[in-house]
This record gives sequence, C-alpha cells and structure tokens, in this order.
Amino acid sequence: MSYGERIPVKSRRELEVMRVAARHVAEILMELRALAAPGVTTGELDAAAMESIRRRGVKSSFKGYGPHGLPAYPAAVCISVNEEIVHGIPGGRELKDGDLLSMDFGVHVDGFHGDSAVTVPIGTVSGEARALLDATRDSLYRGIDQMVPGNRVSDIGHAVQQRAEEAGYSVVKEFVGHGIGRSLHESPQIPNYGPPGRGARMRPGMTFAIEPMVCIGESDVEILDDDWTAVTADRSLSAHFEHTVLVTENGPEILTKVDGSH
Ligand code: MF3
Ligand code: CO
Repeated sequence: MSYGERIPVKSRRELEVMRVAARHVAEILMELRALAAPGVTTGELDAAAMESIRRRGVKSSFKGYGPHGLPAYPAAVCISVNEEIVHGIPGGRELKDGDLLSMDFGVHVDGFHGDSAVTVPIGTVSGEARALLDATRDSLYRGIDQMVPGNRVSDIGHAVQQRAEEAGYSVVKEFVGHGIGRSLHESPQIPNYGPPGRGARMRPGMTFAIEPMVCIGESDVEILDDDWTAVTADRSLSAHFEHTVLVTENGPEILTKVDGSH
C-alpha cells in the first residue's frame, strides 16, 4: 500500500465543480432508490440511471472504465445483491423481497468526478441484514469523522474497521477508498482497516471517496466469471456504503449528500 504520492488539494473553483458533480450523484442515487422494488430488474435501474445522466447532461464515471487487464465496465451503476460485495453488473436479475441491494454510482461534470454507494433493503429484510446495513453505514460515518485537518489518512480506515469489528463483522481488504477529483481514482488509497497515525496528514481541499464493504461472515473475496462481480467466498451477506467527502477547516463536508441520502 503506497501512501507516498502527492495528494491533490482542490482550489475553491475546482470544489464548486466537484460539489455540482457530487450533487448529481446523490440525486440520481435517490431516484434509483425510489425505483428499487421487488420485480424490478437491475438492468432497469441502470437504464434509469443512464436516462437521468442524459437528461442532466453529465457523464458516467463508470461506463467504459477499464483498469488495465480488465474488460471495460459495461454499465453506469454497479449493482451488487446479497453476497455480492461490489462491481456487480446490472442485467436481467429481478429484485425480490428480502434482498440487500447495493448501488454504486459516479458521474463527472466539467472534468471532476463524484462517487457514492448505498445499500438498501428490498421489501422486508431479516433482522440480521438490517443490523449489517446499520453497522456498515455507521462505519462509513466513523471514517468520515476522522477527516479533519491534521489527522492522518490511516485514521480513517482504523475507525471504519473498529466500528465494523465491534459489531462482529469483517471488512473487505481487497478494495479500498480513494482520492477523487480530476480522476475517479487518485492518491491516496484508503483501506478500510489498519493502524491509526500513518500516511499523509489531511489538509483542507483534499477530497476522498470513503467506501467500507462489510460482511457478516468472512471477508475473503471471489471474482465471478464476468471478471467484475466480487462476492464473499463464504456467500455471506455484504453491504457497501460510500460518500465523496471534502476536508475543510471545520471538518468533513459530505459532497454526495442531499436531503434523504444515506
Ligand atoms: N465506487 C467504485 C470504485 O471507486 C466503483 C468504480 S468501478 C467501475 O472503485 F468499474 F465501475 F468504474
Ligand atoms: Co469509489
């Protein structure tokens, strides 16, 4: 894990653009949440996202995204159900009562990206699933709370891990949060675990996407044959929450939050 590279600090003008991109992300995720129900397919949710992207005149950060070695990601939303952790590809799967639905979504506007994810219950879910959701969201917020000037980058992951593990859950180690701005993924990498007090000190103007993935069972990951979908090796339930967050003099400002957001 490298904490070495320079972490971009955004100017006030750049931050105004990031706020706009992030607000589109938050609003479109709210639209998708309103549509998600038993009988709806994951492909229909992705189509709704594409339509909203078009209407707003923004661009998908995910569609066509291809880190080397992987086929380009084919959709605008990563949709991961139940034991799927992240990077699920939308398609013909119909949601059903009791499912845990994770939607991860990003857009860029005038050269700046926003990125956010939420996990929601479909119909009535088990108490066990509900508790996992609550702890995972809470672990995201514990991480965000660390985003004050002077704290170090690894303080974020330490707080996330502590919250998830005190609830008896495990954190996924294969995927990390990240700096975000002119690129969807920029320095630093932000693991959801580890000791505090390491890495760069946070400064006002840094923007990070914090994204804990938390599992009821073991956190070992398997990748399905589509080369993208990550599932828990033990097929236990997993949840994922993410926000794009700015470090300010006064503490964290969550850019991907509108009324009603996670
Ligand atoms: N939020 C995820 C991330 O930051 C999703 C991006 S992967 C993509 O890694 F392929 F869908 F773009
Ligand atoms: Co992300």
